[in-house]
Amino acid sequence: MRLSTILLVLPFLAHAAPAPPAKPLPLVIWHGLGDSYDSDGIQSVAALFQHVYPSAFVYAIRLAPSGSSDRSATFLGDVNAQLAGVCSDLAAIPELSGGFNALGFSQGGQFLRGYVERCNAPALHTLVTFGSQHNGIADFIAACAPGDFVCRGVQGLLRGQKYSDYVQSRVVPAQYYRDPADLESYREHSRWLADVNNERSEKNATYKENLTTLERFVMFMFADDQTVVPKETAWWADVNTTSGVVTKLQDTKGYKEDWLGLRTLDKQGKLEFLTIPGEHMRFEDGLLEEVFRNYFGPQGKRQEWIWPVGERGNGVLELQPQLQPEVLSGSEEL
Ligand SMILES: *[C@@H]1O[C@H](CO)[C@@H](O)[C@H](O)[C@H]1NC(C)=O
Ligand SMILES: *[C@@H]1O[C@H](CO)[C@@H](O)[C@H](O)[C@H]1NC(C)=O
Ligand SMILES: *[C@@H]1O[C@H](CO)[C@@H](O)[C@H](O)[C@H]1NC(C)=O
Repeated sequence: MRLSTILLVLPFLAHAAPAPPAKPLPLVIWHGLGDSYDSDGIQSVAALFQHVYPSAFVYAIRLAPSGSSDRSATFLGDVNAQLAGVCSDLAAIPELSGGFNALGFSQGGQFLRGYVERCNAPALHTLVTFGSQHNGIADFIAACAPGDFVCRGVQGLLRGQKYSDYVQSRVVPAQYYRDPADLESYREHSRWLADVNNERSEKNATYKENLTTLERFVMFMFADDQTVVPKETAWWADVNTTSGVVTKLQDTKGYKEDWLGLRTLDKQGKLEFLTIPGEHMRFEDGLLEEVFRNYFGPQGKRQEWIWPVGERGNGVLELQPQLQPEVLSGSEEL
């Protein structure tokens, strides 16, 4: 009699006292142009992650100890050197030694992807990018705040010889500038993007090998992005900026020939293309929390994507506050 009572009670007990939730992998965040690791926006993203997963470790990538220097480094610097610095920084953080997931905002997204290709020690498991420029930019239209001399200087340099060695080794956005009408110059002179995108005749097999180790690679595009030209670069599409014709990633040569392993990842169901309403880097309440729950959970598995659902607040989190979209007049040569 006693035995059967216990047997009946046990399943109930198992439900009443679930095992404590496993700890999620740490989260690494790489912010965008004009932002800094210690900005209110980035701090609130980190706080939100720790609200969802209280014991989780979060690290916001920085290129300099002070917020203002870190912000300048989003405009000026040599991306190859910056990335190498980030590789050694991440390798030196004990909490990350077991691997991590990452969130890349705008240019931070393609840089994190470059991290996987070039270093990936410790290993990045799930990468989520927001409005990133995986296939480059064909224009630089961010208007700088008055008195923002770094931003203005960059704007000026980008109007000049974008593929000159001078600009390519100093101006960050130039290093992912990709003029679809002049791919020859791009392949020859782009110091960063043409290399990490394996667009030169000689392919780097390590890039593909490393990128295909990702468990999941999620690319968000902002539906009304007025800042990134073309916005479809967030999905790694190729856009003819003259005709407006969009060639989706799956129809590009690089995908078909699997230069980077994107086709491999796609065939394994590991690539996701998602749209968010709104302008570049404006998040509605609840979106990031949903991303954290769906992609960065302790079980390491994707759950069903359920955003947008139900009622959301009206709050909007805006990153990169200094950059406002404004298309420069057509007469200005970028
Ligand atoms: C491929 O990339 C790795 C990592 O950046 C580098 O060490 C290696 O020299 C590259 N190989 C070629 C053939 O360029
Ligand atoms: C990524 O590439 C580097 C060489 O650049 C290599 O040392 C590392 O083991 C690779 N990582 C993975 C996960 O493939
Ligand atoms: C882009 O479109 C224009 C106009 O239709 C065309 O002349 C040009 O060849 C296209 N460029 C490429 C790279 O396909």
